[in-house]
Amino acid sequence: MKDTRLFKRLFAYMKPYLLRYVVAIVFMIIIVGIDVISPLLISASLAELGKEVIDFNKIVMYFIVCLGLTLLMYVIQFLQTMLLHYTGQRIVYKIREDVFAHIQSLSHHQFNEIPVGTLVTRDTSDVNVLFQLYTNVIISVLKNTATIVGVFIAMVLLNAKLAIIVLCILPIILILTIVFRKFLRKVHRQVRTEVSNMNAFLSENISGIKITQIFSQEEKKYNEFKEANTRLRKSTFKEIFTFGIFRPSVYLIYILTVIIIIYVGSNEAIGFSLFGVAIAITYDQLYAFYQYISKFFNPIQMLADQYNTLQSAFAAAEKIFTVLDIEPEIKDSENAIDIELKGNIEFKNVWFYYVEGEWILKDVSFKINVNQCAAFVGATGAGKSTILGLITRNYDIQKGEILIDGINIKDIKISSLRSQIGQMLQDVFLFSGTLASNIRLDEESITDEEVIKACEEVNAMSFINQLDEGINAPVGERGNNLSLGQRQLISFARTLVHKPKIMILDEATANIDTETEKMIQDSLEKVIKNNTMLMVAHRLSTIQHADIIFVFDHGRIIEQGSHQDLLKLKGRYYQLFMLQFQKNELKNITQKALN
Ligand SMILES: Nc1ncnc2c1ncn2[C@@H]1O[C@H](COP(=O)(O)OP(=O)(O)OP(=O)(O)O)[C@@H](O)[C@H]1O
Ligand SMILES: [Mg+2]
Repeated sequence: MKDTRLFKRLFAYMKPYLLRYVVAIVFMIIIVGIDVISPLLISASLAELGKEVIDFNKIVMYFIVCLGLTLLMYVIQFLQTMLLHYTGQRIVYKIREDVFAHIQSLSHHQFNEIPVGTLVTRDTSDVNVLFQLYTNVIISVLKNTATIVGVFIAMVLLNAKLAIIVLCILPIILILTIVFRKFLRKVHRQVRTEVSNMNAFLSENISGIKITQIFSQEEKKYNEFKEANTRLRKSTFKEIFTFGIFRPSVYLIYILTVIIIIYVGSNEAIGFSLFGVAIAITYDQLYAFYQYISKFFNPIQMLADQYNTLQSAFAAAEKIFTVLDIEPEIKDSENAIDIELKGNIEFKNVWFYYVEGEWILKDVSFKINVNQCAAFVGATGAGKSTILGLITRNYDIQKGEILIDGINIKDIKISSLRSQIGQMLQDVFLFSGTLASNIRLDEESITDEEVIKACEEVNAMSFINQLDEGINAPVGERGNNLSLGQRQLISFARTLVHKPKIMILDEATANIDTETEKMIQDSLEKVIKNNTMLMVAHRLSTIQHADIIFVFDHGRIIEQGSHQDLLKLKGRYYQLFMLQFQKNELKNITQKALN
């Protein structure tokens, strides 16, 4: 991304708050002004003390003015910090919001390509670096530049020749700072790499700790951790060491400069010659110089620091804008319409792949009418979940058409489409929160009664009633405090409560016991009366009541019809059914034998 474009975009976020930045700059000018003037005031009172007849009133006045200015400076500093932090927070709030909203608009396909961790980093650490930019860096860069200029002018006014001596020392400080930065950047990068290695190690191994324990890998993992930990310790120490060398070196130069000034100044007590140039200085000026030297050197080092922060802020901004620039693959077409779904679904010669050239669906055509229940059967990896995901445009197809109520789904608003289709996916995802919040999602209008009714319909109340807090019982991250079957029941209730026109059930009852499954089916039958339902189940008993069953093989429909039709056909479905039937028979025989 070009720098000018980057600036423009960063500036665009500042624009609504421009007035505040102007106020902050005015504050900054006042602060720098006071900072530069104070040594002059003290120097003036020292000059007064040096006079033969001392005017104490004048000294008291200098003192009061100095105290007043210092107090004023602190107040303004406080106001400025508050103002900048408040504004900075506002800006990064907006950026974080934009990034999150944009991430939400990306398609499943795009999520397969961008690691989740990267997106999390963009919306957290990278945004925080920008916070530094908007609060501290911009104003500090201006402040330090203004201080350097202000202090230099004050020194020239005090004593032009001494000011030039100080200026001569400047290149030494600059060279030292530049060399140090180079070293520091290197060690800093090392530390960052080690920290991120450590984070990656911890997050992977803490998520997988149960596997580590099951396979008794604790010692091995502990040793790996120790290695990563040692590398982190060593690199951090290197960083501290580099700082440890640099800081005293700069301080040394500062002290040397002061000594030179004092030496040359006091040598002639007020009048001397340096390299043949006659210099006259008074003790009070000497004091002011002493103060100015540090006020002159500090901002130079700080500017070098800020240059680095600026660079990392630009790098972070570039990364953030790159995410914002990812064009959502699946979005509403220009004339997309809102529709009230009835529930007719038609696939017309649909071809689809995830990876170019590897067709997953090959010329699939079928029709499901309103209120029908359709089931998809086929081997693992045959493409059943893929078909279901296409209906809600999780992915767009490459060839053919998918029609709902005769309208191509690409012409329907995505929000309209998805809000009327209830999906119970193969991998249930629960958010941390409560059972009720997971069922309701963000639909606040759904009452507790409705939530409970849905739970009753899917027979979830029998386990919920055992929990102290009922439907308000907490749900851990990803629902890890619930059994797989319980998670499926909650997801069932979630789908029911949103009253969708089309229901998609992908292995929705795979982890639920047969008895509960039967109950759910009964209540679904009540619901199906005004729903179209598409389901996938490996357990054929689950789907044998479906109006139409599609048998898939390698991305093609090879058989279709009702359970009875397909059995008569004696094809693939018949084979599958017989296999499962025999298994059940065997189970029954064993059961009988045990009894
Ligand atoms: N995100 C993806 N990227 C690339 N390939 C994918 C993706 N998701 C699924 N596939 C591939 O598409 C094929 C069909 O997968 P799909 O999930 O539709 O199978 P399925 O019939 O639902 O199987 P199962 O019965 O195991 O759920 C598989 O070969 C799988 O490897
Ligand atoms: Mg599947």
